[in-house]
This record gives sequence, C-alpha cells and structure tokens, in this order.
Amino acid sequence: MRTRIINANIYTPKGDKAVKGEAMATLEHLPNSEIMIQDGKIAYVGPIRDDVEADEVIDAENQVVLPGFIDSHTHLVFGGYRPEEFSWRLRGDTYMSIMERGGGIACTVEATRKATAEELKKKAEKYLDRMSEMGVTTVEAKSGYGLDRDTELKQLEVIKQLAEDPERKVDVVATYLGGHAMPPKSDMTHQEYIDMMVKEMLPLVKERGLAKYCDVFCEKGVFSIEESRELLQAAKDLGMGVKLHADEIVCTHGAELAAELGAQSADHLLHICDEGVKELAESDTVATLLPLTAFTLREEFAPARKMIDQDCALALATDLNPGSCFSGSIPLTFALACIYMKMSVEEAITALTLNGAAAVGLAAEKGSIEVGKDADIVILEAEHPSFLPYYTGMNAVCRTIARGKTVFER
Ligand code: NIG
Ligand code: FE
Repeated sequence: MRTRIINANIYTPKGDKAVKGEAMATLEHLPNSEIMIQDGKIAYVGPIRDDVEADEVIDAENQVVLPGFIDSHTHLVFGGYRPEEFSWRLRGDTYMSIMERGGGIACTVEATRKATAEELKKKAEKYLDRMSEMGVTTVEAKSGYGLDRDTELKQLEVIKQLAEDPERKVDVVATYLGGHAMPPKSDMTHQEYIDMMVKEMLPLVKERGLAKYCDVFCEKGVFSIEESRELLQAAKDLGMGVKLHADEIVCTHGAELAAELGAQSADHLLHICDEGVKELAESDTVATLLPLTAFTLREEFAPARKMIDQDCALALATDLNPGSCFSGSIPLTFALACIYMKMSVEEAITALTLNGAAAVGLAAEKGSIEVGKDADIVILEAEHPSFLPYYTGMNAVCRTIARGKTVFER
C-alpha cells in the first residue's frame, strides 16, 4: 500500500533521540512538499515529484502536517470515576488530604478491582478513540489501580490487548505502576509491599512481557526516595526501563533520583529544585511535564522555561486519569504549555512528538517525519502550527494517520 501526501506544509523535529534545551525550538519547515508512505513507513519526504504512482493521494493544500502526537504519560485503564472528589477539591480540599482520608487513588482501586477486563478494555478504547481524534498516535498506559497481584495483571493484560490489536488506532506502551500507592485496607508495611513487588510482581510482569517500564509515585507520604530506588533498581536489574512520578506535590528530590538511575523519564516536576534541573539537564532522562494536572489541581505549573533554558529535554503529556486530571486534551495541553509555561509553539511541538517518543523509548521509530520512521502523521486544518495553542482548547486536527492508515478524518 502506497499513500502520497501532496502539497504538504511540513513542520518536524529531526533525529532519533530527545532534543535538549534551545534546540527544542528548531523545527524543519518543508513547505509545498510530498510525503510517500509505503507499508506503514515513511519512504520519501521532499519536493513534490511528477509521475509517482500511489494507491491513495491526500491533498494537504492549506493545511499543516506534523508528526503524530505522543502522549507519554496516562493512566488509561481504570474502573469508575471520582466526580465527588473533584467537587471536594473545588471547595478547597487538597489532593493529598483526600488521599490521606482513604479516598483518591484507593477509590479507583476499588472500582478497578470490581471491573471485568472486558469492561476496562471497552472504556479504554473509548478514550483511545478520543485521543486519536486529537492527533495522538502513541500513548503510554500505566497500571497502578490494582495494587494486588491479580488486578495489576488484569490491567496490564488489558493494556497488552490494546497494544496488540491489529485494528488499533493508537500504539500503546505499557508501564507497571504497582508503586502507585499502598494497597488500601491492607496491613502490609511499606517494606512488605515493596518486597512483594520486587520478588513477585516484577519477575511476573517481565516474564509475561506485560510492561516495558516500571514507574513509582515517589512522593511525601507515598513512596520515599529510598523505597522508590529499591523498587526501580530491581526493575532495572530485570532489564526494564524506569520512570518516576517525581516532585509532584512537594520536592522530595525525585528528579535527582531519576537522573541517578538513568530513568527514561521523570514526570510532573511541579516542585523540582535547582539541583534537580541541573541533574536532569546533564542526564539522558526526559523531563515530562503534565500541565493539565497542575491546572486541574490549581497548582503552579512546572518551571518549563527555566528547564529548557538550562538544557533539559522536555516532553509534554496529559496524565489522563479519573482523579488528579480527568482530561486527555491535547489542545488544552498546547494552550497551557505556551500561554502559562511560556514554551514556544515549536518547543511544545517537539515536546509532544520527538521528545514524547523518547520518553517511551521510541525516538528511533517515531516522533518525526523522516524516511524510515513509522508513518504517524497529523494534519491540521490551519494555516500555521501556532493554531495549536492559538485556537485555544479547540481541536484543529482534521486527519490522523497511524502507521500509514487514516484513523480519523473530519
Ligand atoms: O499522575 N500522582 C499520582 N498519580 C496520578 C493520579 C492518579 C489518580 O489520582 O488517580 C497522577 O497525578
Ligand atoms: Fe500520572
């Protein structure tokens, strides 16, 4: 199958690894160009050629062509919802105070334990469809709402089914987040639960090929730096990549731990300290910022400008989950990143494409429009990429192409 995109006004980052610091602002601009897609891969990018045969021709006149967006941090698979918690927060309760009262993540754990795999899958597919409409072609999905053996496996098996679905619209990368919270209503100590994850869960997850990454909520009152290090080191010893929810609510120096461990990404970072910024900048760890979460929790945004100026590689992602951030909005992510976090449009595009790919270890295959990469492409009904934040909170995407196939068209 050969698909040609003609009259393409392409903007793309380039390369096969995360782009750091000021280079994030540089996109290659190829006006009036052609992309040839063959068997799901990009086979040609350049000036429009004559006499080229294709099975399908897409005319992108007056549109903007970008790499597909990569949402590198979501909690896609979950049971139930938490609208009451949202109302309490509107009235002034904090996220952590609700968690300390036994609410928050524990409520979703209860609902996820009750749900069947089929129910979880159906629900996740609904959100994948919505993401695809907003230009997302790859998503990372975490477990972490089971916190017991069987429910964590159930979540991961659902994620695996989504990832292996031949009809899938979005590629899915799995992360084991058993260290999301202590199992509710259990009398296990922290050390006993860490031991259970290290000795029982991680080897099972690894053996069954259920997750590429292991993540942990490294936070005051959740898992300490020492506990997080022990869990993630065990994952690394098994050959898994590691990620951290770091410095989200308070600074516990999770960013420094991410750099020390060579984590694939350190995520949230609302309260990253100066030393954390410096160590991430000197490392290969991607700093993944989640502006929708700061927005919905009424927290200060992560210091994106300072981090880019000091040479970090930033990704942006949604954090879609039923608690802290019930939104997978790519348009709003762009708007918050550019308007409040003072990122340029180009930096935000790099963060949601190539650097997002790097945050899930796929920068060699995805994240830019270059020959040899997967043909994951988004077309905007817009005259300039700035429409992404400028058309605030609105969806400018008119076509999403995933592995060469149009999966959304408007
Ligand atoms: O990334 N902070 C921890 N985990 C999620 C929220 C999960 C939830 O509230 O259900 C986050 O914000
Ligand atoms: Fe999260």
